[in-house]
Amino acid sequence: MCHVLILAAGKGTRMKSALPKVLHRVAGAPMIDYVLAASASLGAATTTVVVGHQADALRAALGAHPDLRFVLQEPQLGTAHAVRQAAPLLAGLGGTLVVLSGDVPLLSPDTLRTLVARHEEARAAATLLTAVVDDPTGYGRVLRDGAEVAAIVEHRDASPAERAVREINAGIYAFDLGPLFPALDEIASDNSQQEYYLPDLVGIYRRAGRRVIAIPVERAEETLGINTRAELAAMSARVWQQRREALMASGVTLEDPATTYLDAGVSVGPDSVIHPGVHLLGRTRIGARAVIHGGVRIVDSELSDDVKVLDHCVIVGARVADGASVGPFAHLRPGSDLGAGSRVGNFVELKKTHLGAGSKASHLAYLGDATIGEQVNIGAGTITCNYDGERKHPTIIEDGVFIGSDSQLVAPVRIGRGAYVAAGSSITKDVPEGALGIARGRQENKEGWARLKKLKQMTEKKS
Ligand code: UD1
Ligand code: CA
Repeated sequence: MCHVLILAAGKGTRMKSALPKVLHRVAGAPMIDYVLAASASLGAATTTVVVGHQADALRAALGAHPDLRFVLQEPQLGTAHAVRQAAPLLAGLGGTLVVLSGDVPLLSPDTLRTLVARHEEARAAATLLTAVVDDPTGYGRVLRDGAEVAAIVEHRDASPAERAVREINAGIYAFDLGPLFPALDEIASDNSQQEYYLPDLVGIYRRAGRRVIAIPVERAEETLGINTRAELAAMSARVWQQRREALMASGVTLEDPATTYLDAGVSVGPDSVIHPGVHLLGRTRIGARAVIHGGVRIVDSELSDDVKVLDHCVIVGARVADGASVGPFAHLRPGSDLGAGSRVGNFVELKKTHLGAGSKASHLAYLGDATIGEQVNIGAGTITCNYDGERKHPTIIEDGVFIGSDSQLVAPVRIGRGAYVAAGSSITKDVPEGALGIARGRQENKEGWARLKKLKQMTEKKS
């Protein structure tokens, strides 16, 4: 039976931030989300997060994980001190405790499962993940005694010879719960930071004749920690690049991969083409043969096959059916629902609006809280006046309606099937099926008016 403890109480001093370090986003998601996702694969009996710096913000941010338990570390006196805070929850239990760092996000589920399996097979008191890296600066160095680990020395406490060691401590451990908490009490803070270092447990166990083993990971990048904003940016770049490559491998063309930004849950169908500068975020799903032009941001939306999105659109919480076309410069807000083959053009904004199959709103319109049927034409400059200052009201436009340009539809209002609304109308009453609704000042032409005006001006000048 295994338990998980995630260390996330540290101040993250080097981030120079008011936000807890583990909530900084790696490729769009808080770094601790990656750690939680990897740890979920262990199916642990309990998962506990050690919080401290900005504890309330962190607890609140993790509210979506009802099974998590929290312990408070206050003040934060180092990683061993952090683990010790979990004693009331974990001391006295048997089995394996997996300790994860909230700032090491790329750890894979496979590596974690290997860690636990090897630890339990070896019946070790402690097992740590290590990596051999080109630049070990900042990490704890693994000092070996043959196959066994003799000690770990932190970068700032290491001698030049020790700093030359390129095998680093990943900060990820499996411990036998039995001897753990008594041994933690033996750790001192006689180091450059006056902190209680969890890796010091290695030396203590060795002296007590207990078994400590180290497992080098195959892919060193899994052990990368984030301590600075530069490391955060480098990590995001790495994760985005992996997602881009996966998408391209699945048959999607990215014209400029480096400027395509993808969240983890995004899917795109084969033979779709994504132009430069596109963000596909949240739970966005795009079908096959779609074309997404430059400067487009799509969040939590579903676009079907053969959809075209022209440049500079923002699409949030929307659905777009087969073959529809959006943009350029369109804004689909939450609850927008475009039927097959429909078209939303330049400077058109939709909110909570269904636009039926084959219908068009090609230029300059606001359509909010509207239900629009099929084969409807919404003229340029049409506005649904859905808000009376207190409440929102619906507009219903039935199949085959033609709304002339520059019309206002004051909701609640219904335009019946096949009806016309004359250009420039302010419609305040329902228009029945097949009727023409016209609501504008009548035009009057004053014959010869311009010539008379000129004559009048000339006589005024003479006098
Ligand atoms: C730690 C290890 C180092 C290892 C590196 C790997 C120690 C002393 N050193 O160094 O050997 O190579 O990770 O990334 O453990 N935390 C707390 N409470 C504290 C201090 C830290 O919860 O009092 C948490 C932090 O929020 C963080 C994690 O522990 O998630 C690691 O702390 P950090 O200060 O980043 O340790 P490193 O210096 O990176
Ligand atoms: Ca760290």
